Amino acid sequence: MILPIVAYGDAVLNTKAAPIPQDYPNLKELVASMFETMYEANGVGLAAPQVGLSIRLFVIDVSPFDEEAFKDEKRVFINAEIVEYSGEEWAFNEGCLSIPDVRGDVFRPEKIRIRYYDENWVLHEQDFDDMPARVIQHEYDHIEGKLFTEKLTALRRRLVSKKLEQIKQGIVNVTYKMRFPRPARKR
Ligand code: NI
Repeated sequence: MILPIVAYGDAVLNTKAAPIPQDYPNLKELVASMFETMYEANGVGLAAPQVGLSIRLFVIDVSPFDEEAFKDEKRVFINAEIVEYSGEEWAFNEGCLSIPDVRGDVFRPEKIRIRYYDENWVLHEQDFDDMPARVIQHEYDHIEGKLFTEKLTALRRRLVSKKLEQIKQGIVNVTYKMRFPRPARKR
């Protein structure tokens, strides 16, 4: 099922998400819906707060960046904790499905070690680098209640501030379904 994506300005995006109990109802269906929603919006990652649920769940599929190298990088992360960041920081022009038409360079460490459960509740502790580490860090920030716009330079933030205000009001051009915190009144 395709779910509406919560837009910038909704408090759920600024809230640290809660761990998920193993008996959480319909988790498999939710994971399937999140992948479906992400693909529909041409995203490479989607976190549960972006569909209005403040729980520690996110999905990624990094294969669009390199179908050969990242063909196995379709993953589900439940109750993830990044336990180590390492390597040089590098910049990448990031975007976010909750913040359409806003992009900016974000510096992040090259490598991470992350502990998480997969969709079958198997515990992993795994190292990632390159684009998978990039996307995982972006999605991990979502379950910590942080957005990439907070990591932009002051100048860049100033340049996108009007756009951010418009997003809150639903003044955006998107091809996917969204939910806005302060829809503008019809004139
Ligand atoms: Ni995002």
